[in-house]
Amino acid sequence: MTARNLLLLPGDGIGPEAMAEVRKIIAYMNDEHGSGFVTDEGLVGGSAYDAHGVAISEGDMAKALAADAVLFGAVGGPKWDDVPYDVRPEAGLLRLRKDLELFANLRPAICYPALANASSLKPELVEGLDILIVRELTGGVYFGEPKTITDLGNGQKRAIDTQVYDTYEIERISAVAFELARTRGNRVCSMEKRNVMKSGVLWNQVVTATHKEKFADVQLDHMLADAGGMQLVRAPKQFDVIVTDNLFGDMLSDVAAMLTGSLGMLPSASLGAPDAKTGKRKALYEPVHGSAPDIAGRGIANPIAMIASFAMCLRYSFNMVTEADRLETAIANVLDKGIRTGDIMAEGARQVGTVEMGDAILEEFKALSA
Ligand code: IPM
Ligand code: MG
Repeated sequence: MTARNLLLLPGDGIGPEAMAEVRKIIAYMNDEHGSGFVTDEGLVGGSAYDAHGVAISEGDMAKALAADAVLFGAVGGPKWDDVPYDVRPEAGLLRLRKDLELFANLRPAICYPALANASSLKPELVEGLDILIVRELTGGVYFGEPKTITDLGNGQKRAIDTQVYDTYEIERISAVAFELARTRGNRVCSMEKRNVMKSGVLWNQVVTATHKEKFADVQLDHMLADAGGMQLVRAPKQFDVIVTDNLFGDMLSDVAAMLTGSLGMLPSASLGAPDAKTGKRKALYEPVHGSAPDIAGRGIANPIAMIASFAMCLRYSFNMVTEADRLETAIANVLDKGIRTGDIMAEGARQVGTVEMGDAILEEFKALSA
């Protein structure tokens, strides 16, 4: 069997602790099921800065480009608040997204039944929630030029960020959203600000045209992004797939994440275009939560988002659908048993640390795989 090459980039803060729990699952799959994962490791974010003075080294970038998939932990922390802007920890993640051309960011927001009470919304609003945010990830205001702060010489400065989208960028991200919708509830809601932004006008036109041309069987709605944010907290279950740009997607996916009870629960996948010859997509999988420096190193972080990110990796990079389903079921079963990390603790549940949570999920996964 051909090797499955994974690059692990644990990063900073709770990233390494969470990644350690995924390593155990990989080892089990290799040892007991001959899954053939070959893992390599690199540094990203503050840890890369400390070692190499950059947010990711050229050597690790080369490894990322060569791997079948990258598993990414988290980056950043107060220790690196004052490093130069272009080598700040986040720059490592942004470079990976840009150089690997990972334009499609899939952020599912699923409310596990056992966690409906942990949401800041009423349980009946979020019970059974299953939405997918498809965020454009390599364009828009994150990367648009000019991006500058200029001294105007009169005691004033001027900051410029540029929101820019070309037709092809909107076409390809909306195609991903429509294709995924077909495998779920068959509905897409596109969000932009066409009432204020030219990029919103074009976004709306291109999504509409792509829909008409290739995906007319999928139900399409449009919402202004601010109204969309409001609807997400008013009645989140009305949505199936939401497609939106880089910046709106950043904000709306944090909102959606909190609907599910904890940021510590949510995985994400960032995918490139399929290679014309091999059909393979470049891919990076990461939890939506950040590096949580306040709890790093204490063994209390929730590893579920990281483990669920590995499940997405099994599904989207290796077509190991059965294994992905099992791993997701293992997470749900462990939650059903009342095992909880501190961030999702509930009355009557048993509070555990990172390692115990990882062990419990692995045991459940083993039982399901037997
Ligand atoms: C995310 C994060 C990143 C982003 C940061 C760390 C650069 O918030 O993945 O949502 O803004 O995209
Ligand atoms: Mg974010």
